Amino acid sequence: MTLLRGFGLYVSAGYPCVLADVSATPMPEKITICIAGLGRAGHFHLRSVQSSEQFTLRYIVDPAISANEHPGGQQTKVLPTLEEALSDPALDAVFVSTPTPYHYEHITQSLKAGKHVFAEKPLGTTVSEIQNCFDLAEEKRLALHLGFQRRCDQNFQALKKSIQEIGSVRTIKTSSRDNPQPSLDYLRISGNIFHDMLIHDFDMLIYLLGMRVPESVYAIGYAYNQDIGDLPDFDTVLVTLKYPDGLMCAIDTSRIAVYGYDQRIELFGEKGMVIAENQRNDSVQVHTEAGMRQSPVQHSFPQRYQDAYAREVEIFGQGILNQRFYNVTREECLLSHIIADAAHQSATTNSVVNVVQMYNSCV
Ligand SMILES: NC(=O)c1ccc[n+]([C@@H]2O[C@H](COP(=O)([O-])OP(=O)(O)OC[C@H]3O[C@@H](n4cnc5c(N)ncnc54)[C@H](O)[C@@H]3O)[C@@H](O)[C@H]2O)c1
Repeated sequence: MTLLRGFGLYVSAGYPCVLADVSATPMPEKITICIAGLGRAGHFHLRSVQSSEQFTLRYIVDPAISANEHPGGQQTKVLPTLEEALSDPALDAVFVSTPTPYHYEHITQSLKAGKHVFAEKPLGTTVSEIQNCFDLAEEKRLALHLGFQRRCDQNFQALKKSIQEIGSVRTIKTSSRDNPQPSLDYLRISGNIFHDMLIHDFDMLIYLLGMRVPESVYAIGYAYNQDIGDLPDFDTVLVTLKYPDGLMCAIDTSRIAVYGYDQRIELFGEKGMVIAENQRNDSVQVHTEAGMRQSPVQHSFPQRYQDAYAREVEIFGQGILNQRFYNVTREECLLSHIIADAAHQSATTNSVVNVVQMYNSCV
């Protein structure tokens, strides 16, 4: 697929992007892609691209899958490493859903080879790695899409639209509890709960509030699971953020919630309150003498965000075809990373951490 070069600025549904002169863009053909890493995240991307008209899946790269398995269908070649896929001039884009420690290598390899990238979070594990990813994408004029799928969730999009009705926001409360608990093998290389899990909540604050840098963060955590404590990491965390205009946010998170996947947000403002509730398998309530019951909240993220995962993949495809290069800006990505660093530092040193100083020193 041939793409035209050159770009301007574009904003859609809270998504600042870089955009070319779309009038010059050729008619869309299918985008030929590779999925690197076919685990939990790779599978939801596989489902999304297979149900989309926009993509042709040419390669799956995963050393744990043998060449004679065909998880992507007979037309999709399975490879143990990325190199052969990247050397294919017909390949347009790579989905990076490998384990976190490989992201930076796989993202930069793909961009250097001239391929657009859809990357699961995080782009890298340091500020300079994140900066390098954006530098490369800009230099090569390639799309770099970050998998913060909550931005594509219809509930959170509707929540964002209704914020204007409640005047200035005074407090935000978020519950973000995972289910089931990820394996220790996953957790060992995930970064930590701040960079692996809470990063989605920090990005949600940026998505809902815009580029507002919190003044300070204070976090406390505990590992109820001894194996997680030994990593060392926390499995349960409370984070509070204070903004210069008085706004206060509280996020509680847990690696496990036995009743299902629990993600709720409440914003309270001078003129009211807006809430995004959990999703249930159905909305039926049964009221009897014994009380009221309803179906449990959805089991885990593949169910809760199935539509959002499909939508983010569509947005990525449209972005490539229309030369919109980012769904999350460099500054937004750096800010969520810095807040995660600050919260981790706070919880491990039992101190209030100044986020403004940290953010200003890296931009
Ligand atoms: N956005 C989300 O909702 C979400 C959810 C889950 C995971 N993730 C992210 O996705 C990434 C993967 O997580 P996961 O839960 O799918 O992990 P996983 O362990 O289930 O899957 C990782 C896959 O990558 C393969 N792999 C390992 N080394 C590889 C290599 N060098 N090249 C290619 N493939 C390789 C493994 O064999 C495995 O199949 C993580 O970085 C995580 O942060 C995001």
